[in-house]
Amino acid sequence: MANKPPVEVDLSGKTAVVTGANAGIGKVTALELARAGARVILACRSEAKARTAMTEIADAVPGAQLELVRLDLSSFESVRGAAAEISALAPKLDILINNAGIAGQKGLTADGFELTFGTNHLGPYLLTRLLLPNIEAAAPARIVNVASRAHYRTGPLDFGKVRKETATPTGFPEYCASKLANVLFTRHLTKLLEDRGVREVDVYAVHPGVVASEIWREIPAPFRGLMKLFMITSEEGALTSLHCATSPSAKGKTGLYWDKSKPKQPSADALDDAAAADLWRRSAEWVGLQP
Ligand SMILES: NC(=O)c1ccc[n+]([C@@H]2O[C@H](COP(=O)([O-])OP(=O)(O)OC[C@H]3O[C@@H](n4cnc5c(N)ncnc54)[C@H](OP(=O)(O)O)[C@@H]3O)[C@@H](O)[C@H]2O)c1
Repeated sequence: MANKPPVEVDLSGKTAVVTGANAGIGKVTALELARAGARVILACRSEAKARTAMTEIADAVPGAQLELVRLDLSSFESVRGAAAEISALAPKLDILINNAGIAGQKGLTADGFELTFGTNHLGPYLLTRLLLPNIEAAAPARIVNVASRAHYRTGPLDFGKVRKETATPTGFPEYCASKLANVLFTRHLTKLLEDRGVREVDVYAVHPGVVASEIWREIPAPFRGLMKLFMITSEEGALTSLHCATSPSAKGKTGLYWDKSKPKQPSADALDDAAAADLWRRSAEWVGLQP
């Protein structure tokens, strides 16, 4: 008997953006959205890798409607350019999946922020804010932020570290902080939408599972190979994103953290409304928007 497709609704006529859609969880997410009939905009850093992914998706889903937008989340200029292109392609944007992310890399973004915080939080923050009018225009619409259970492994955000190069040898503490930021961002965006009376724009933070994707590329090869034996596949890792983005049963369950396609209690720091509001306000200032 053939397996059930992970998306069980018909997405014909809908438009979705998936960031980091050329690899890992994002590529499977884009493929399954396309399989369900959505037009999918792959927002990717590398045009060559994105073209390869588009060919693979088109081979698996004949007639898939795919578009490519170049996006480097570590540059505000690139994010602004990508948002303008996406806005032109999709005046109504039904699904935004902020999937792209890095782990274990060190340095600074083009705008002088710690590389992981800048790429995993500030880039998606700016992209989402710039696309919000298009998303609201499409309501009912959904925003999925791919966070991580790594957010449990950090304390409150330390803003003293945000404008400096990655301080730790592994970059893992910075990764955990960026993922806490994803959950706080989800929480405060939900509150602001509710305060403005916006109905039917649902926001989700997701842990995909521990997935044998390319995210582990910084780990030396013998360890990496061994670790991956104990991980789930990208196909399995895309399921919670796809559930939150499309399932009728997730509709209206906004502002929550999800794991294995179910809401789950995030860390105490991720439930701190004052911290979420503070992160939102600072992020607005950093990216050059009004709070
Ligand atoms: N894998 C896990 O176990 C795990 C666990 C928890 C959470 N997550 C989260 O899941 C998401 C997807 O990760 P994955 O495991 O699928 O990793 P992956 O295979 O490494 O894919 C990451 C994607 O993000 C893109 N990306 C990286 N930096 C970017 C930038 N500056 N601008 C635009 N795109 C960029 C990558 O593009 P390039 O190919 O050009 O580098 C790639 O397409 C991430 O947010 C990650 O934090 C993963």
